Amino acid sequence: MSSFIHEEVTSVHHWNDSLFSFKTTRDPGLRFRTGQFVMIGLEVEGRPLMRAYSIASAHYEDHLEFFSIKVPDGPLTSRLQHLNPGDKMLVSRKPTGTLVLDDLKPGKHLYLLGTGTGLAPFMSVIRDPEAYEQFDKIVLIHGVRTVSELAYSDFIENELPNNEFFGELVREKLIYYPTVTREPFRNQGRLTELLESGKLCAQIGLPQLNPETDRAMLCGSPAMLADTSAMLDRLGFQVSPHIGTPGDYVIERAFVEK
Ligand code: A2P
Repeated sequence: MSSFIHEEVTSVHHWNDSLFSFKTTRDPGLRFRTGQFVMIGLEVEGRPLMRAYSIASAHYEDHLEFFSIKVPDGPLTSRLQHLNPGDKMLVSRKPTGTLVLDDLKPGKHLYLLGTGTGLAPFMSVIRDPEAYEQFDKIVLIHGVRTVSELAYSDFIENELPNNEFFGELVREKLIYYPTVTREPFRNQGRLTELLESGKLCAQIGLPQLNPETDRAMLCGSPAMLADTSAMLDRLGFQVSPHIGTPGDYVIERAFVEK
């Protein structure tokens, strides 16, 4: 059996000059857990050129969805950004990753902290009814440089709350907090600063971060992960040390150099 599954691109959406997302067919045998990533790529000069991508679609959907940056001279994304429906893609057979709900201890509030394309795994989490069963509130914070990078905001604000199966849970439990750092917007500043100053929790009407009640998932650049973990550690949160051992928070790198 080949180590890769051949899938077909079914749609492509360009959010702006630097971000796009696309959907592919999904082999029914490909199982994954919400928040995991998989290697995907293209055959280039007869060889697979693969990179890790978080799966943005839900575990129950019959397609796969990915959210990507366009790196002009990136070996893979410089090609991927020209994908069209009908094009073929390679997908590895073994999704994996640390951003899984099972690796969080029970809690009341789940904070999803993502910057840039670090939003991708959280698009899967907020489409998983299980996440809403486990928590009273889910707070999705998406930090970006410019307003045009707030991908999926219309879906999160207008479509998801009307989902025919779990829209009611979304309306009751999901709090979406987009924040922009380099342009005017209704919320501004880095998520680390907004959380540490107490401003963000006050604005959304939740108590300040507390390891007794709150859990977090982090996905962003190495610098964002380092700073956000340091902040959580100062507040007494404990990271899940490895897959299978629950903690107060879990971390995944947003894989951007592509
Ligand atoms: P900033 O504009 O102040 O650098 P990037 O595209 O570089 O990954 O950044 C995405 C978003 O994450 C930007 O809003 C950026 O803010 C923010 N960011 C970058 N580094 C950090 C960090 N160390 N901690 C928190 N937020 C960060």
